[in-house]
Amino acid sequence: MESVIVAIDGPSGTGKSSTSKAVAAKLGLSYLDTGAQYRAITWWMISNGIDANDADAVADAAGKPVIVSGTDPSRPTITVDGVDASGPIRTEEVTSRVSAVSAVPEVRALITELQRSIARGAAGGIVVEGRDIGTTVLPDADLKIFLTASPEARAARRSGELKGADVRATREALVKRDAADSSRKTSPLAKAGDAVEVDTTELTLDQVIECVVTLVEERRSAT
Ligand code: DC
Repeated sequence: MESVIVAIDGPSGTGKSSTSKAVAAKLGLSYLDTGAQYRAITWWMISNGIDANDADAVADAAGKPVIVSGTDPSRPTITVDGVDASGPIRTEEVTSRVSAVSAVPEVRALITELQRSIARGAAGGIVVEGRDIGTTVLPDADLKIFLTASPEARAARRSGELKGADVRATREALVKRDAADSSRKTSPLAKAGDAVEVDTTELTLDQVIECVVTLVEERRSAT
């Protein structure tokens, strides 16, 4: 198989980003962080005084920002109207509003189209990570992985990344965001029927990377 499309979905704190970047780098593939795109549009809404919970206002403005994602796994970038947004999209404010913005169907339609065109343009193949990649964005992906982990493990990892944030508060925020992402009407967080589920609770990051690399190589040699 010349070009391979890999979809990696799952809730936050399962190691999706670290795994996806490392797998793409090891296999010489492009990489797309779709959560960063939803964060970028959320940041733009906040910066422009649009209430994230006002679905009509969000839908009306959804087509305005120009979001550009870099697909080099060793240096993923994201700009909004030409401005580097990599830092601002990771703030607590964006994290607490991104589920509301990403639940708006007009936002999803625009971002999904952007994701498909990036995947189509990635000549050698791509690893795309998100929540609805295997189910909605790229249902014909060559390999679909669904990463899971216990809420405790996910909260511990996230609070480590957030440099010592309270594990209990992080767990509550994670569970709340997953519930919102899983229960929205338009393409919720879900495992595709043909996805391979990998429970990362007891695995190190290196073990998860190795497992996914092996799955991609197996899929490549089978076709
Ligand atoms: O992966 P992340 O935590 O950066 O994602 C941020 C939010 O974006 C997540 O809470 C839900 C939304 N998202 C989505 O709805 N669909 C995707 N494919 C990726 C992310």
